[in-house]
Amino acid sequence: MKELKVQPIKNGTVIDHIEAGNAVKVLHILGIPKTSSSSVSVAMNVRSKLGKKDIVKVENRELDPNEVDKIALIAPKATINIIRNYEVAEKYRVQLPDEIIGIVRCSNPTCVSNSKKEPVSTRFIVVEKDPPRIKCYYCEREPDDIADRII
Ligand code: CTP
Ligand code: ZN
Repeated sequence: MKELKVQPIKNGTVIDHIEAGNAVKVLHILGIPKTSSSSVSVAMNVRSKLGKKDIVKVENRELDPNEVDKIALIAPKATINIIRNYEVAEKYRVQLPDEIIGIVRCSNPTCVSNSKKEPVSTRFIVVEKDPPRIKCYYCEREPDDIADRII
């Protein structure tokens, strides 16, 4: 029998296969609870085929591509399931693009992307997708605390 840890939802998005412990970071990316009032349920340390995982279910909301890229940075194995009328209408795995623009702040204080005089969008080259490794296009610095540097 399939065990249901969290109620199915009628409409919305289920972010599944989040590395155990990272659900809180996903909530932060989605602006929950600060800027979003969507109903959300979270399951943490759920047993699955590949060890433990977290799941985030957001009702009545679909994610924008920017949010999906941010999730890919902290949960590279996550799947996004779009639920319509209780059915999984779409399912895809997050996929980091080769470059990420305006999503992560560079950790180098003297980087041109941190300059107040000449504001340029932050830009990173994705060196590795899983586990994610990124390198600043301008100064080549690799932040090691990506989750804390997401804008
Ligand atoms: N789900 C939900 N509400 C629904 C339908 C599905 O919350 N009405 C959730 C399920 O609990 C699961 C995820 O959406 O966490 C994906 O559902 P499904 O594709 O049915 O599950 P699996 O086949 O186990 O998915 P996968 O193969 O991606 O592991
Ligand atoms: Zn830089």
